[in-house]
Amino acid sequence: MANKTHIHAQWSSRLAFMMAAVGSSVGLGNVWKFPYMTGESGGGAFVLIYMVSIALIGLPILMSEWLLGRLGQKNPITTMSTIAGRLKRSQAWALIGVGGILAAYLILSFYSVIGGWALAYIKYSVTGTFSGLDGDGVSSLFGNLLGSPGRLLAWHSLFMVLTIGVVAGGVSGGLERAAKLLMPALAVLLVVLVGYAATTGSFADGLAYLFRPDFSQLTGDVWLAALGHAFFTLSLGMGIMMAYGSYLSDDVNIGRTALTVVILDTVIALAAGMAIFPVVFANQLDPAAGPGLVFQTLPLAFGGMSGGILFGSLFFILLVFAALTSAISLLEPIVEWLEEQSPLSRLQATLVAGAATWLLGIATVLSFNDWSGFQPFGMSILDLLDYLTSKLMLPLTGLATILFVGWVMGRDEVRAQLNMSPTAFAVWRFTARFVSPIGVAIVFIFGLIN
Ligand code: PFF
Repeated sequence: MANKTHIHAQWSSRLAFMMAAVGSSVGLGNVWKFPYMTGESGGGAFVLIYMVSIALIGLPILMSEWLLGRLGQKNPITTMSTIAGRLKRSQAWALIGVGGILAAYLILSFYSVIGGWALAYIKYSVTGTFSGLDGDGVSSLFGNLLGSPGRLLAWHSLFMVLTIGVVAGGVSGGLERAAKLLMPALAVLLVVLVGYAATTGSFADGLAYLFRPDFSQLTGDVWLAALGHAFFTLSLGMGIMMAYGSYLSDDVNIGRTALTVVILDTVIALAAGMAIFPVVFANQLDPAAGPGLVFQTLPLAFGGMSGGILFGSLFFILLVFAALTSAISLLEPIVEWLEEQSPLSRLQATLVAGAATWLLGIATVLSFNDWSGFQPFGMSILDLLDYLTSKLMLPLTGLATILFVGWVMGRDEVRAQLNMSPTAFAVWRFTARFVSPIGVAIVFIFGLIN
């Protein structure tokens, strides 16, 4: 096993680390999932709870994962068992890492199917399919894609092959360096889209929908959905950020870096919402259309604007790119784990993990067509996988992580890692010990019994 011990190089620069972290966090979660969840949850109240969850729960947990990773210097399972061992605590804390790998597997299986939709939409935009489409046109375009298991499977397979190729080829670093250019380009295109949304005549309605909370919409499930999405969008509760933290050099200020990642991630999600909802209202579409929302609204925008073919193609290319940087961060920990648990080489482990994920993804592919009648617990397979991961597993592992840092680790050890002013640290520690865990616990319990 000695040859498999990772000797960690540290990130060449703070920027390289940031790109990996931003690459993992910014993805389909921001552009696809956030808008459709907002629409399904009735708008502003969800957005408000989501932002509160990001600030009071997501940010402290992101910092906790990074500081644990930097202390442990290994993969999440070994990191947790080493630190727990040193503190003479139960090895059960290593379950945080195990749960994370399982969640990453489940998430990647459907993430790849949606990444496949984005690939299909590159083709549609390049070939000018969106020009002149009305609301019915975009719905039937999307409906036709979902109705065809063969095409969905082909796009899902292509997305998975790309992901496997990047991980197996060991070029994730290159991809992350490219993120330095491509992420800002995605942000610029979102601004263009928000600009277009401002011309639709329904901009004010869109903004009001996003930012004027209607508290009558706040059910326990909406709270849980908002909390779960805070974990999903920041890639928390999977040990991924913990693994990244192991590459973090000692002079990086964890608090400031985490705040930057959280702000970028949130701004991109809000921009996507601001681009989408005005188009929804201008075309009398249903904000609660579900997972197809983005794919049924943005084509209307591209179809209606000048230069739409160019902007549309660029947009979906950049979306696929953002999805890929997230997907590789989901596949990596599975591969690493498999490599350590088995005699497989890195390449073999990547192929096995990728194939297993691809296989599970077929269930999501079929759930939109041949298996659409199969609704375990009254949910589609996509909703079920999302429920299991975002609403159950991620909050639980996140809770365990923050309890570990807040209550098991010593104050001074945490403080040395965070390197904050005494007041800032006191606020942080209070949040980590009380606000975040109690918040997760309450939302979790009320969300489940609701
Ligand atoms: N954070 C990614 C997104 O918002 O698209 C998705 C994701 C990546 C979730 C990595 C979880 C993860 F570990």
